[in-house]
Amino acid sequence: MFVETCIAPVNIALIKYWGKRHEELILPINDSLSVTLNTDEMCAKTTAAASASFKDNVMWLNGEKVPFEQNARLMRCVKELQQLATAKGKLKFPIEWKLHIASRNNFPTAAGLASSAAGYACLVYTLAQLYGVEKEELTTIARQGSGSACRSLHGGFVRWHMGTRNDGSDSIGSPVVSAEHWQDFHIIILVVNDSRKKTSSTSGMKRAVETSDLLTHRAQHCVPQRIAAVIDAIKNHDFPKLAEITMRDSNQFHAIALDTFPPCAYMNDVSHAIVDFVHAFNKEAGEIKLAYTFDAGPNACLFLLEKDVSAALAAIQNSFPNDAGDSVEYVKGIP
Ligand code: PMV
Repeated sequence: MFVETCIAPVNIALIKYWGKRHEELILPINDSLSVTLNTDEMCAKTTAAASASFKDNVMWLNGEKVPFEQNARLMRCVKELQQLATAKGKLKFPIEWKLHIASRNNFPTAAGLASSAAGYACLVYTLAQLYGVEKEELTTIARQGSGSACRSLHGGFVRWHMGTRNDGSDSIGSPVVSAEHWQDFHIIILVVNDSRKKTSSTSGMKRAVETSDLLTHRAQHCVPQRIAAVIDAIKNHDFPKLAEITMRDSNQFHAIALDTFPPCAYMNDVSHAIVDFVHAFNKEAGEIKLAYTFDAGPNACLFLLEKDVSAALAAIQNSFPNDAGDSVEYVKGIP
């Protein structure tokens, strides 16, 4: 038997990916940019084994058996890795050997906290280790499991280039700067609700592509400038600029979700209270010290600099005390 175990972290998008131009290959309609967390508190851990004695391919997610061969995205990742390994002649065991894969997230699954990004990045990396495939080739494969997974294979700030080729070979995740570049950049996750989201990102995106007029406007006229400006802000350690672009992009993404017909409402009243709280906090400070961003769910990711962490946490506890109905739990992280 051959066994490998790996962990992969969650990434949080500052400029969101929303909308595909190719459903199966998972090719996006815009570039996106994220920061990968560097914390054991929010990651996926996967163990993959291959053995002559396994009769079937089996997968467990958080301890529960889930479909394997019926899962087209999973099978696509497995087949691509097997083809690469066969082409390179690096296989340590016969390709026909069945797989047992066990994956676990130590944070809420499918609650809009990038669980599929960490999950597929981890799955692809672990299988690559098992099959002896090199790391550089993996982002295009992880992308076909879950789009945002291609960004979790790198640390620091990462850009997913939408690419122009029809086969997706140039739709890759590549590092912008490593985590060391901005060491006092911090992230606080506010868990508002850890249940599964009502509309998956796959169906929310599909419906947006079909029905939202705002979506094309954002992809063509807003995202290219934002990507360039946020990279500039990252390179120059310009936190207020990064924060404003991030908040504007989150707001526009959720406006598109509401412009979708029927609409997708991912944020709830507590999420909106967090938005108001962040703007009030910045107004009081006289400068932008805190930024929010929300994925396809009600939970908030806050970005801030290390020097402001204590003041922000005190203000959060004050505005969202744990015994109140609209309480939030928080997790601290650094890239
Ligand atoms: O990769 P998916 O299908 O989980 O989609 C992720 C979409 C967002 O999280 C909302 C945005 C992003 O870029 O991560």
